[in-house]
Amino acid sequence: MRLERQREIVAWLLAAHEAGRTQLADEPLRLPVGEFFDTELFGREQRTAFRGCPAAVCLSSDIAGPGDHLVVDAGGVPVLVVRGEDGAAGAFVNICRHRGSPVVERAGQRARSFRCRFHGWTYDLGGALIATPYGDDGFDGIDRACLGLVAVPVAEAFGLVFVRGEGDDPIDVDGWLCGMGPEVGDFGFGGYRLFDRWTSEWPCNWKLLVDTFLETYHVFALHADTVARYFLVRPSAFLPFGPHLRFHSLQKSLLDLKGTDPLGWELLPHGTVEYLIFPATVLSYSVDHLAVYRFLPAATDRTTVELALYTPAPVETDEQRSHFQRTLELHQRVSGDQDFTQQAKIQRSLASGRAKEVILGRNEPAAIHFHLSLRRLLAEAQRQEGGR
Ligand code: FES
Ligand SMILES: [Fe+2]
Repeated sequence: MRLERQREIVAWLLAAHEAGRTQLADEPLRLPVGEFFDTELFGREQRTAFRGCPAAVCLSSDIAGPGDHLVVDAGGVPVLVVRGEDGAAGAFVNICRHRGSPVVERAGQRARSFRCRFHGWTYDLGGALIATPYGDDGFDGIDRACLGLVAVPVAEAFGLVFVRGEGDDPIDVDGWLCGMGPEVGDFGFGGYRLFDRWTSEWPCNWKLLVDTFLETYHVFALHADTVARYFLVRPSAFLPFGPHLRFHSLQKSLLDLKGTDPLGWELLPHGTVEYLIFPATVLSYSVDHLAVYRFLPAATDRTTVELALYTPAPVETDEQRSHFQRTLELHQRVSGDQDFTQQAKIQRSLASGRAKEVILGRNEPAAIHFHLSLRRLLAEAQRQEGGR
């Protein structure tokens, strides 16, 4: 993030702290508990927000060289993302054209081709079917040239790779990010290195999990024995970019800047900057690492969380390794044991049917923005379907 932008934000935050203010939404938002249980709504969210919108699935560096590949989920569509021989990112439905087996089961590097484990059909990096061993006369009348992996839209910009599980229109990343792209691009995430991944399953709705990144109101209470001593409850600040947003979790050290020369102000050493790439990818930047959270809904009350921790430079020494191992464990403790565990408890208690709604306060404006953006998108999709 550019220094001028950081200074502007610091100035706003210090003035807000001085005045005892924080950023407020226009009004509280009451969310009916059906938001977290309604299977019809869940189906629309999957179709519209997860399959119909571009999903930020990985960093460019996850597929740094030709043949490097990942298997990702785009609204329930299994997608193989691969760096082609020509250096461009490709993406294909990860379903073998023979009998539907997944072609690739895990991430890997420098593959020359992909061989399905079931009967060995083999595809090149561009998805073309190049071998059907022992299948010479088994598929007479079927044109193998038409049996390549099905391509899905893919685009790469600002150090990120986007795919869309449905539709043929090309992805315009810049347009989709509504102005947030260049700011994200400034961080240079495309050159970051993966340290490690952690995948976990949670018995709760995906929106409850995303919400935990969008307010610091809970920090003093829920995180009392972990990070509360470092972070401010308020002020907090966010900036919307279309349905996406930037959110700040601020450390108390920010207040040390009061009374110092504004030309020396920087925001980034004093907290975490989070970018929510709608609907459910969170880039959480701290001064020495990037944590990327992806939320993959499986049912109204079941969500997979994929966390990947990246570092700006290669981790070479034992000391660095144990530092980033501790960082990953802190994410697991704070997000997993505290935030996500709390949301699972909320899902269980709401399932009793004895609460009609939950309320997001005006002091939780980023969470309100997220829910209203989702509502708007779904309403728009319904209007378009109705108009057909
Ligand atoms: S299902 Fe892939 S080769 Fe048969
Ligand atoms: Fe939290």
